[in-house]
Amino acid sequence: MDDNNELRKEDLVFGLDVGTSKINLFAGAMNPDNTVKILCCGALPLKRPDELDDVVETLQNVIRQLEPFIDFDVRDVYVGIAGNHVSSVNYKGLITLPTGEVREVDMERVKNLASTIPETAGQILHVFPGEYTLDDQAGIRNPKGLNGRRLGVEVQVVTSPSNVILNLDKSVTRAGLHVEELVLEPLAAASAVLTDDERELGVALIDIGAGSSDIAVFVGESVRYTASLDIAGNKITSDISQCLRVPISLSKAEDIKKRYGTCRMSNLIEDETFPVPSVGDRGDVQCSRKLLAQVITARVFEIFKILKEDLEKQKMDSLLNGGIVLTGGCCALEGIDAVAEKVFGKSVRIGYPRDVAGVQSYSNPSYATGIGLLLYAAKQRRREKRRETGKQISVSMKKSLQWFKDVLKTYF
Ligand SMILES: Nc1ncnc2c1ncn2[C@@H]1O[C@H](COP(=O)(O)OP(=O)(O)OP(=O)(O)O)[C@@H](O)[C@H]1O
Ligand SMILES: [Mg+2]
Repeated sequence: MDDNNELRKEDLVFGLDVGTSKINLFAGAMNPDNTVKILCCGALPLKRPDELDDVVETLQNVIRQLEPFIDFDVRDVYVGIAGNHVSSVNYKGLITLPTGEVREVDMERVKNLASTIPETAGQILHVFPGEYTLDDQAGIRNPKGLNGRRLGVEVQVVTSPSNVILNLDKSVTRAGLHVEELVLEPLAAASAVLTDDERELGVALIDIGAGSSDIAVFVGESVRYTASLDIAGNKITSDISQCLRVPISLSKAEDIKKRYGTCRMSNLIEDETFPVPSVGDRGDVQCSRKLLAQVITARVFEIFKILKEDLEKQKMDSLLNGGIVLTGGCCALEGIDAVAEKVFGKSVRIGYPRDVAGVQSYSNPSYATGIGLLLYAAKQRRREKRRETGKQISVSMKKSLQWFKDVLKTYF
């Protein structure tokens, strides 16, 4: 990499997506103008995502892929987390205002109170504050400075069972890395693909991977809802292995899905077939592409239907004036956006990663999570830097003040 000589270690950020079917590790550099440049990406399929040794070994091989491109060791990584073990629950907090006016410290206190959850609820990944109430007035976005007696807030707390977090941490640590922060995957993907307009209007990001279909709803600056469904690409593959004219292995069904699969039946030539090797060396059997498309589309339809019902149950569907954005590997299925549009009755688009320099070769919805993790990491780093600078300024101001006092004491 040409610019590598100028790279400073502190400007490097890493995003690790340990998916059900693959591991992606993105390395990026933070530019002085607050943009992020992708330096390289290591990517390998993950054969046995439930086996610690396989995850560690695959991750080590992915890290090795990065070595020729960066001179520094990969160490602190932002790691994605998703799946139906992640739960998102709304909690409320209410405090009495000691001064009769809302201060920042009161807002912090009520948020902390609302997010004090029982230990059995698991470990907290994110806390998303919702709107505040002040006495009888509801729906206040920023109550700072207002007068009142009681301040309330509803927060959305996203948690995961401690053992899942421990196991993810263990596999990353064993591969020689350190987890800087765990980030909910659809949240990361959203940083890479959503536009400000969509967020302002209200939008749902749906990531359809191999093991799970994850959803996150954004309205303005707030995350309103997150959920995960454990039906995704793997389920489509297992349908294919069972529903063709001949029974086939899952790995063969996966190949067929990627090679001949589509959700757009209108593009198929009448009676178009594809060869499927039959078991026991009896030669190829011809199968109908239309049948394959029907099997795939039926499952995709069902996935969207369940997600739609969930959004309706949570009263989120009416908030989505900006429509729906799809990411994840299943977006490679031609016409998947049209199926989603039909089910949701809203505008749907495929989310390609954007706003990142060097992104052209990774402009694929299955990279949205990995690239989003880089953007998320850069944002957090900038926040930390600002905090540190703030601290330094206040320390130096204190020092100047002390110096001034000393001078006054000496001369007057
Ligand atoms: N060309 C293609 N046609 C159809 N499906 C595809 C294609 N390419 C990838 N997929 C499917 O996308 C899924 C993998 O997507 P992705 O890489 O987003 O998943 P993951 O991150 O490993 O899983 P998860 O997010 O659920 O943990 C697999 O089910 C795979 O079969
Ligand atoms: Mg994924």
